Amino acid sequence: MNQDELKRAAAIAALDYVIDGEIVGVGTGSTANHFIDGLATIKDRIRGAVASSEASARRLAAHGVRLFDLNDVERMPVYVDGADEIDAGLAMIKGGGGALTREKIVAAVADRFVCICDASKRVARLGRFPLPVEVIPMARAHVARRLTALGGEPRLRQGFVTDNGNLILDVHGLEITDPAGLEAEIDHIAGVVASGLFAMRGANVLLLAAAEGVERILRP
Ligand code: A5P
Repeated sequence: MNQDELKRAAAIAALDYVIDGEIVGVGTGSTANHFIDGLATIKDRIRGAVASSEASARRLAAHGVRLFDLNDVERMPVYVDGADEIDAGLAMIKGGGGALTREKIVAAVADRFVCICDASKRVARLGRFPLPVEVIPMARAHVARRLTALGGEPRLRQGFVTDNGNLILDVHGLEITDPAGLEAEIDHIAGVVASGLFAMRGANVLLLAAAEGVERILRP
């Protein structure tokens, strides 16, 4: 199987976590797109979905899945999304597609985060993938200086504006030994909207697809 087929296998396995009659939180990216396509086949069984990006909302709508505004949702049993890296504690780096803030918000409402990945995303230590940080435009230089002081090398994502009208700094070279601690530290920099570290609220379940099949890994 190639990487895209593995992404699809993980995404299809996540359909087992969708609860009939409930609202599903839906992530963003190529793996989440496979999940959306799978969700379309069972759309009559669910109440609808909350999307974590404009792109996912468009794809869900094209399939005829009913979309909900997060503010109108009180209960969401599950959020399903991919990751750029995931470690043994199911902490993740996300945001390669730039949707990290809405992903974090929708995930925060859900009871369970089901992460869907091909095996290449699993790492011993987070940080080889540059950590995306969404920043308010006027704070770009200030936040970049603070991220540099933390040992990283922030680079502005060129020609990119988030769904929220903000910028992304991709931080290279971070040694992430304490994902939750670093997430809290970055969150406290004035002008940061969110970082792509999902450690304080990591995944509850990882569906990791490899040639041998989809492995189900629970948060320790
Ligand atoms: C989107 O902003 C990201 O968080 C994605 O979930 C992540 O980059 C994984 O993307 P792929 O499924 O395309 O690898």
